[in-house]
Amino acid sequence: MHEFQNKWLNLRETVDRNSRNKRILYLINKFFKNKKNIRIVDLGSGAGSNYRFLKSRLLNNQYWSFVDISHKSTNYFKKNIKLSSKIKKNNFKIVDVINNLEKINFNDYNLVTGSAFLDILPKTWFKNFYKFNVDTEIVYFALNYNGNFKFFPKHKDDKKILNIFNKDQKSDKGIGELAVGPDCTKLINKVFKRTHKTYVLDSTWDVSKNYEFQIYFLNFCREIIQKNKLNFDDWLKFRLKNIKEKNSRFILNNKDFLAIKKKINNKFIF
Ligand SMILES: C[S@@+](CC[C@H](N)C(=O)[O-])C[C@H]1O[C@@H](n2cnc3c(N)ncnc32)[C@H](O)[C@@H]1O
Repeated sequence: MHEFQNKWLNLRETVDRNSRNKRILYLINKFFKNKKNIRIVDLGSGAGSNYRFLKSRLLNNQYWSFVDISHKSTNYFKKNIKLSSKIKKNNFKIVDVINNLEKINFNDYNLVTGSAFLDILPKTWFKNFYKFNVDTEIVYFALNYNGNFKFFPKHKDDKKILNIFNKDQKSDKGIGELAVGPDCTKLINKVFKRTHKTYVLDSTWDVSKNYEFQIYFLNFCREIIQKNKLNFDDWLKFRLKNIKEKNSRFILNNKDFLAIKKKINNKFIF
């Protein structure tokens, strides 16, 4: 994998790990407490950060399937995967889950999961995904960008930059359709609350002391500004100066989503 990409993924993985909502793990483990083995599918598994987070925190024996469209990320993950005695089996599938969702047999899994994945999907995906997962016991999508970030100290152009960033998040991310961007949690919650008890919990990144991370994020903003042929040099200089002087704070709002199949009289409604 590209060195820049690798560095960013490592930086992000640590921040993601610390930001995830821990109550969700408690709820998942409580739900599966009487199961010896659980089967899990990780959508948009990338280089494996969702697996690395969950594998040691889930209490059951685990059978994992990893699904991604990218051969490159999948090969990297495959090469570096670390197993443990709780991991009974794992397999990797190259599938475009936007256009070929039916290729995943969701009935095979107890837990359907993904991280930093929902916001790149098109609006039509959510109903389709729900159709295949009406009976899934647990659906868990972590770290969904929620449309807000803040740098401190403030600058007069902050709001404009946020709007440009959010507009970019809703643009076509190479899939031929507009992405839902910050609306992803609202959309997934809307469909699953019909049959599942749903939770939308906070997983905000607070990287106020992580200046390296802030520089990366600032560079993403710079790229978006340049792509749109806009001029926010004053804002960029101001932000860079504050980061370099270690006088900058940064938070970005994410939400974690959990859906647990509702029971009637202690039985699942299938
Ligand atoms: C932002 S990354 C998240 C990766 C990982 N889950 C994490 O938390 O670091 C999004 C992942 O979705 C994958 N992806 C994008 N479009 C996809 C599609 N249509 N089908 C399957 N995976 C896709 C990308 O290859 C990438 O690995």
